[in-house]
Amino acid sequence: MKSNNGKILKMQEVSRIFGKGTAAVKAIDGVSLGIETGEIVLIMGPSGSGKTTLLSMAGGLLKPTSGEVFVAGKNLSELDARSLSQLRLRRVGFVFQAFNLLGSLTALENVVLAKNLARRTDKAAETDSKAILDRLGLGQRLAHVPADLSGGEKQRVAIARALVNDPPLILADEPTGNLDSHSGREVMMLLFDLAREEGRSVVVVSHDPRIVDIADRVLWLEDGRLSTKRSELEEKVRDPVCGMQMDIKDVAFTAIHHGQVYHFCSEKCRQKFLEDSGRFT
Ligand SMILES: Nc1ncnc2c1ncn2[C@@H]1O[C@H](COP(=O)(O)OP(=O)(O)OP(=O)(O)O)[C@@H](O)[C@H]1O
Ligand SMILES: [Mg+2]
Repeated sequence: MKSNNGKILKMQEVSRIFGKGTAAVKAIDGVSLGIETGEIVLIMGPSGSGKTTLLSMAGGLLKPTSGEVFVAGKNLSELDARSLSQLRLRRVGFVFQAFNLLGSLTALENVVLAKNLARRTDKAAETDSKAILDRLGLGQRLAHVPADLSGGEKQRVAIARALVNDPPLILADEPTGNLDSHSGREVMMLLFDLAREEGRSVVVVSHDPRIVDIADRVLWLEDGRLSTKRSELEEKVRDPVCGMQMDIKDVAFTAIHHGQVYHFCSEKCRQKFLEDSGRFT
């Protein structure tokens, strides 16, 4: 079955249950999601809401209990183990909170390994790895092992590794969770800049409200269900820019400013607010 309509990622009615019987947990409950080429989508939600489970299924690291996942037009459930692993290496770049670098390998070797695993073993594998590390500001750190790198540098190596095979889709699970806010912001900006320059799509899970401003779209995950707003809230809200009253459940545009959530009738109002929030708060 082929059904992706040009979307780099498409999830259809995906569910994932962990455990059996009375101990069963429905971590993801009938989620459908489409990610366009070049789009940066932020997923937010409370701890345990299923964010990691969702990303793991999006990248073919975890099989759904039901539903279908398409990456670059390929239905993951129709691939054998070897094809799935090659698709993961070539089409998807993963960035994790814990970096997941190999401690005995240098920064350069960690990146070259990702290239080699994707069956790219010629001289270019090393040249490409050096080039991407250089773009991430690590040209002087190629021979360092992870233990001798700062947290922000480790995450930049992990980003280099995620990007080195030119994947059209990047999945990042709380990439700044282990970094202080300054290096966290720097790392995110680097990742987004590189993604935007090359038209890659990014799905990023984060609690960092500053990413709201950078993302093209923000989605909320609660109890395994996806929505464009916080579903537990039923009250009326006012767009601070145009003054329009809205039902919060109908609001698709939000921004967080100084820890406060603001709701907008349109992307236009959201942009106006972000350009000069002092006028409206
Ligand atoms: N391997 C597993 N076995 C059993 N239950 C699991 C497993 N992985 C996740 N769960 C459960 O599924 C639910 C969703 O977990 P998940 O890790 O996706 O949440 P999360 O939104 O990423 O949380 P956090 O923000 O804390 O990282 C939780 O209730 C969790 O306990
Ligand atoms: Mg998680």
